[in-house]
Amino acid sequence: MVNQSLFDLTDRAVVITGAGGLLGKEHAIAVGRAGGTPVLLDVSPEALTAATQRLGAEGVSHLALEVDLTSEAQIAAAASKIKHQFGAVWGLVNNVASNPPMGAAAKGFDRLEAFPLTQWDHDLRLGLTSAFLCARQFGEQMASSGGGSIINVASDLALISPDQRMYAVGIPEGVPSPVKPVSYSVVKSALLGLTRYLATYWSPIPVRCNALVPGSVGGTQGPDLTRELTSRIPLARLAETDEYQGALVFLLSDASAYMTGSNLVMDGGRTAW
Ligand SMILES: NC(=O)c1ccc[n+]([C@@H]2O[C@H](COP(=O)([O-])OP(=O)(O)OC[C@H]3O[C@@H](n4cnc5c(N)ncnc54)[C@H](O)[C@@H]3O)[C@@H](O)[C@H]2O)c1
Repeated sequence: MVNQSLFDLTDRAVVITGAGGLLGKEHAIAVGRAGGTPVLLDVSPEALTAATQRLGAEGVSHLALEVDLTSEAQIAAAASKIKHQFGAVWGLVNNVASNPPMGAAAKGFDRLEAFPLTQWDHDLRLGLTSAFLCARQFGEQMASSGGGSIINVASDLALISPDQRMYAVGIPEGVPSPVKPVSYSVVKSALLGLTRYLATYWSPIPVRCNALVPGSVGGTQGPDLTRELTSRIPLARLAETDEYQGALVFLLSDASAYMTGSNLVMDGGRTAW
């Protein structure tokens, strides 16, 4: 019989970046269901409202802050507000990234030869620099209070290269097919390096740091891309939005007390093929 208290997050505040998005909301619900207090950071007031309504419906107490995670000053201001309210936080989920759904006319999906430096700078700033800035703020709080857990949300594309042929399927002749941007692979791969760095930096204080490596969630792609992706996944389906909740709680809680510097790959087997 598993000791359920291993997964308990009672009295633990967990900061989640990009918490109003598809997976961010699920991370917040997971923290709340495990007894913890999610602290939601997002730039979009609408996204925060939708997330807080869901948390409210479940009776989860939480804090939601409108923060632009590309701004060092806004992250610092949020960190001091959070510290004032909760003391040192227990957890940090570096979840935010520039990852809009793929589409023929989608912005930011230019081919490498035309990929704008401004887009590169933005994507690295949002997906990678924000993780560093948040780790600096909240990791320091964890270290001075004796411990905590940081999760960097990577992607299967941290381990494999995007198969660009998938994105061309179904695109009409003459229309340039989108590619998964170079910045996405770079950000996600770099997060694995940041994970190992942070996991050892505060040693031996147990400020643990692990990467969650999810595969694609279904429902946001068109039928062609869904079929292409599915054919490359041994479990023959994309993930449900709530399927990373268990892994998230595991990595945040004492159930993973002896795990740090690791990558928890949950991709339906995509990277095994
Ligand atoms: N959805 C997937 O299929 C999938 C698969 C693998 C990995 N991931 C990773 O999981 C994480 C979450 O993905 P998602 O699909 O939920 O993303 P999403 O695009 O649904 O959500 C991103 C959130 O970030 C917020 N945001 C954007 N810019 C911001 C800024 N400057 N400051 C603060 N907040 C900002 C948005 O408002 C949005 O709420 C990402 O790191 C993504 O790479 C997602």
